[in-house]
Amino acid sequence: MLGKADEVGSKLADQYEFLSIVETGGMGVVYKARHLALNQIVAIKMIQTGQIDEKHIERFRREAKALAELDHFNIIQVKDFGLTETGLPYMVLDFVEGMSLSELIKQQGVLKFETVINIFAQCADALSHAHEHGVLHRDLKPSNIMIKEIPGQKPIVKIIDFGIAKLLNSDSDGALTPLPSLHSLPRCFRNLNRSTAYTW
Ligand SMILES: Nc1ncnc2c1ncn2[C@@H]1O[C@H](COP(=O)(O)OP(=O)(O)OP(=O)(O)O)[C@@H](O)[C@H]1O
Ligand SMILES: [Mg+2]
Repeated sequence: MLGKADEVGSKLADQYEFLSIVETGGMGVVYKARHLALNQIVAIKMIQTGQIDEKHIERFRREAKALAELDHFNIIQVKDFGLTETGLPYMVLDFVEGMSLSELIKQQGVLKFETVINIFAQCADALSHAHEHGVLHRDLKPSNIMIKEIPGQKPIVKIIDFGIAKLLNSDSDGALTPLPSLHSLPRCFRNLNRSTAYTW
């Protein structure tokens, strides 16, 4: 069964080799892995073995689907989605060399004003793109903001973890439904504002 430390070194779908565990979170486990044919480093997110039920699998699917709707420099890109031979979903993401904003704060303490503004602006840009595409993140917090630091350049933000994202143009089982009519838009905007306010 996948989702354990002893999977490191093993292969997934004959395409990926697990290199290490990046983090074991509430629901998921994130691995650093290598795409064997392309020799490319990727992140593979899976559901922890103790958390496998329909609700978590659906949530996982929704995360991949939300990411697939989006194409923005500051939002992590999903590269692949599949099922293991035992039927567990996994998603393959671009690997971010860096750390989460929560780790950065732990390491550096209070961040410089310019750094905060730079991170905030990139997050706002990313959220604006997501909202334009009908995706509400709903779980924006420092541990879901990855920071890629490049010497001599401004840090680059990649927003991750769309696990509880809401897709405005989907119904709960993920099937596409029409976008809201114009007269219901103010309600949507109220929801957008509330969701954004809660997450900051
Ligand atoms: N694409 C990535 N590249 C590098 N590290 C990542 C990537 N995605 C996630 N991580 C690392 O793994 C941690 C957990 O990832 P994520 O937030 O997606 O999972 P989670 O919080 O366990 O998920 P969930 O909230 O859905 O249970 C992140 O805080 C980050 O440190
Ligand atoms: Mg998270």
